[in-house]
Amino acid sequence: MNNFPWTKTSWRSFPVRQQPVWPDAPLRDETLTSLSQLPPLVFAGESRTLREQLALAAEGKAFVLQCGDCSEEFSRCTGPHIRDLLKVILQMSVVLAYAGEKRVIKIARIAGQYAKPRSSDTEMVNGVELPSYRGDMVNSPEPTAEARNPDPRRMLEGYFRAAATLNLVRAFTWGGYAALDHVQAWHRQSLDLLPASDKYEELARQIRKTISFMTAIGLDTGNPQLRQTTLYTSHEALLLEYEEALCRQDSLTGEWYDCSAHMLWIGERTRQMNSAHLEFIRGVRNPVGVKIGPNHDVDDVKRLVCTLNPANEPGRLTLITRFGAGKIAAALPTLVRELGREGFKIVWICDPMHGNTYQNDYGQKSRNFDDILGEIRDFYGIHRAEGGIAGGVHLELTGENVTECTGGSRQLLDHHLHLNYQSTCDPRLNAEQGVELAFELAGLLHP
Ligand code: PEP
Ligand code: CO
Repeated sequence: MNNFPWTKTSWRSFPVRQQPVWPDAPLRDETLTSLSQLPPLVFAGESRTLREQLALAAEGKAFVLQCGDCSEEFSRCTGPHIRDLLKVILQMSVVLAYAGEKRVIKIARIAGQYAKPRSSDTEMVNGVELPSYRGDMVNSPEPTAEARNPDPRRMLEGYFRAAATLNLVRAFTWGGYAALDHVQAWHRQSLDLLPASDKYEELARQIRKTISFMTAIGLDTGNPQLRQTTLYTSHEALLLEYEEALCRQDSLTGEWYDCSAHMLWIGERTRQMNSAHLEFIRGVRNPVGVKIGPNHDVDDVKRLVCTLNPANEPGRLTLITRFGAGKIAAALPTLVRELGREGFKIVWICDPMHGNTYQNDYGQKSRNFDDILGEIRDFYGIHRAEGGIAGGVHLELTGENVTECTGGSRQLLDHHLHLNYQSTCDPRLNAEQGVELAFELAGLLHP
């Protein structure tokens, strides 16, 4: 796999999984040509800056907060949805920065998280076999044959919705919405919603005191450091034709970047050695991630690390482990030890969502807050014990008040989930659960 030079199309000679079969090939080709001529969504220099920031996380000097929808939906490409996600990410990052005393690198699953891997190509709905829903960039979730038919024009629509989303994210993060004084105001409200506990009370008291102090000395006026922030974008590089069409050669360095997002990752289902997905992302210079599940082979992971980061550059490669609360203790220690022994520079982050999904008695997919927290706790504990560096978390989360994950301060139970279950894919933490998790995480950063 390494012996041939990489090009943006070299993945086409490797076995590829999880791609739709577009019924209209000429329309697909026309769409891909249009995409390849459109402007990049991000600038290569931004991805380089993210890589530098991630290098700090590899050394334990920064915390990675990567989160957002499991699957973005075209119909939710709205101002309020984007604002609410940004708001909860900012709130969580303030808690982590205050209490964890670390720089927080904010990366959202946003502006392109439109394609989903599926465990089966088809599904049975009311006795009828239908093609699986593969994300809004491919088909539509309604259970009819017509809606499930892959339509390549959806890739173009995805691009334009990603551009609109990114435009608002840039406006909010640079235009004053993320100013610390606003974040402080949200905080005053949400701190009052948290459950009464000595731990929270003490942390909340400290944050309030810091806020008052900053306000008293006039720090909340004008200073761009306090009024602006950066939210990086990321998504799973799943639909390789789309990713290829968004590849651009950087005019400053001559290197190739996938300009559909700042960071891309490949998933547990597509990361095999010699796969098209691995071949594609090895050649783009963005920071890249790989999901690692409980059934990995350690030698395979070593080969994967060498393929993706031959120069052992810190910040280039993030491993996102997603084992499940019951499996992490058996799986993670060896991996950390073995990769540590090789001297690999890796950003380790914990996805406590995908190994903790269960189906409840009502047929809904859910995850329990305590399992999520339990996996993160073990992740930190194991890294400490094995001499690794825990670099952050990767969460499925929304800023809305959904009821998709059980537990948390409201003690949601399975029979409450129907109240506001909206996800068409995996269950997400809601805003309150997200902030609560940030407080718990802050405690882990400073045990
Ligand atoms: C996801 O992140 O939504 C996903 C499908 O993850 P994984 O590849 O880890 O299953
Ligand atoms: Co998911």
